[in-house]
Amino acid sequence: MSVPLRIDVLTLFPRMFDSPFAESIVARAQRAGRLELEVHDIRTHATDKHHVADDAPYGGGAGMVLRPEPLTRAIRAVRGASGHVVLLSAQGRLFDQAAARRLATVRHLVLVCGHYEGVDERVVESDVAEELSIGDYVLTGGELAAMVVIDAVTRLVPEVIDAESLANESHTEGLLEGPQYTRPPEFEGRKVPSVLVSGDHGAIAKWRRAESIRRTAERRPDLLDRAKLSPAERARLPRTPARKASVNDADLVDAYRSGVGSYRIAARFGISPATVRVRLRAAGVRLRAPRSVERSPTVTEVTRLRATGLTVRELAVHFGVSHVTILDRMKRAKR
Ligand SMILES: C[S@@+](CC[C@H](N)C(=O)[O-])C[C@H]1O[C@@H](n2cnc3c(N)ncnc32)[C@H](O)[C@@H]1O
Repeated sequence: MSVPLRIDVLTLFPRMFDSPFAESIVARAQRAGRLELEVHDIRTHATDKHHVADDAPYGGGAGMVLRPEPLTRAIRAVRGASGHVVLLSAQGRLFDQAAARRLATVRHLVLVCGHYEGVDERVVESDVAEELSIGDYVLTGGELAAMVVIDAVTRLVPEVIDAESLANESHTEGLLEGPQYTRPPEFEGRKVPSVLVSGDHGAIAKWRRAESIRRTAERRPDLLDRAKLSPAERARLPRTPARKASVNDADLVDAYRSGVGSYRIAARFGISPATVRVRLRAAGVRLRAPRSVERSPTVTEVTRLRATGLTVRELAVHFGVSHVTILDRMKRAKR
């Protein structure tokens, strides 16, 4: 058995960690001796009577900043000889699956959770090895971000999850996983793709791989450059635009026959409803009369969402219509 991963978390709010890790994989990993997790209160390292760990920022401004003395004392008390100190920060490098894989090979992690306006910069300079952000938004504190890191890293520690589950999931090979189904074989008129119940393991593996590539091309074409694809798979990738070229007629027909409307199909596959209908007709499908929910967006709906900063293309995908329809509604809003 390999050495367990040790994680020390430094926080002003240790109780936040109680329940998320009382269950599931992280709890199991601890019980199995694969993870040693300890959460420490930074305040216990503040030497004043009231254990104050924060103070007002120099230069004025809103909020408080974590003071350097208690925080560096806390870090140095747990870091030992080889602890890798990570500060959770909205300004850090993006935490992704590659970072999770890298951190899962480290023996001892120290996760520092900032709060309020953040931590004194001198702590970052003297005691932090790297800063990681879990996304381009600002959280109240680093605690939830640390939990995300702990979860994503722990499941990659050897023997925590069986290797086959890890091998096939999203981001393992730079691809998204394809759709998953379980019983019953038919639910509200929607059938499980027949290949999955065929018992033909070769065909299933091929289908899953193709779906995984198709999904990635549709939803996250930005991942494809670095994805692990064979030269043949790469050669078959749709050129431009990825979303449209990768939709095949059989998928459109399957979706339509299982009761999904043309607007929803259009949104799902990133093409316009008109294209969906043209392709369905060409494939010999008799179209149903549109339901009331399958309608174009109103001027008000488009205007409201446009005001949140969505682009014309994003609005078109959201409503499942062409960009021409969105431009039309925007033009009408100006009249
Ligand atoms: C309110 S935030 C401070 C934001 C800081 N003033 C700024 O503008 O970058 C408080 C703490 O939450 C944590 N935090 C906020 N957003 C985060 C994110 N996206 N990823 C990781 N940690 C985050 C950091 O530890 C940060 O010190």
